[in-house]
Amino acid sequence: MKIIAGNFKSNLTRAQVTQYTTALEHSLDAKRTEHKIHIFPSHTALLENNFSHFSVGAQNAYFAPSGAFTGEVSLAQLQEFGIKSLIIGHSERRALFTENQEFIARKFRFYAEAGFEIFYCIGEDLKVRESGDLYEFLRTQFQGIDVDYPKLIVAYEPVWAIGTGVSATLEQIQSTHSLLSTLTPSPILYGGSVNAKNAQEILSLKGVDGVLVGSASLEVAQFLDIIHAL
Ligand code: PGA
Repeated sequence: MKIIAGNFKSNLTRAQVTQYTTALEHSLDAKRTEHKIHIFPSHTALLENNFSHFSVGAQNAYFAPSGAFTGEVSLAQLQEFGIKSLIIGHSERRALFTENQEFIARKFRFYAEAGFEIFYCIGEDLKVRESGDLYEFLRTQFQGIDVDYPKLIVAYEPVWAIGTGVSATLEQIQSTHSLLSTLTPSPILYGGSVNAKNAQEILSLKGVDGVLVGSASLEVAQFLDIIHAL
């Protein structure tokens, strides 16, 4: 059993996600998979998390039950949709929205306390990879995170492979996953330019428990190809 997750980022409208989920549910009804499927639409396109063959999670949320946090979405608002999984630490939030490790760790603690399944993203940029300090860097991205949290799913996403069309090599994926397995007992997904062509090879690697897919999850047919790749 692998975990296959689609992160739609700021793509797809509510109408498009509604069509997408209808098609996904229908296809998975006809052709079952043993894998665990998750999708993460934008907040405006969040749907009730009550599908039979996949779960709907949130890409981001603020660490408060509710309150005065303009522009943010809170725990109560996710709970209204039955949402129980959340992406935290994505490199786009770290880089574009300047979320630092302390902020990310606060978010993690709050949603772990609330019993959420947490897709926790980490990954180095090219400079770090070339410097050879990969282990040290990845270790700092776990600061303040309970690596033994039972509902933690780690997503290793090298920044240089996200949205570039160039995924990490199989050797790089395997060796980094093996490094990460010394830091956490949690399942570890790979993310970064995963598509229907490379998914099978990546998912077959030892230590790869699944994939987190961005661009190639935006069309349901492609996402299904990834799900059925193995
Ligand atoms: P990508 O994005 O598949 O488009 O590279 C992956 C991610 O950011 O999760």
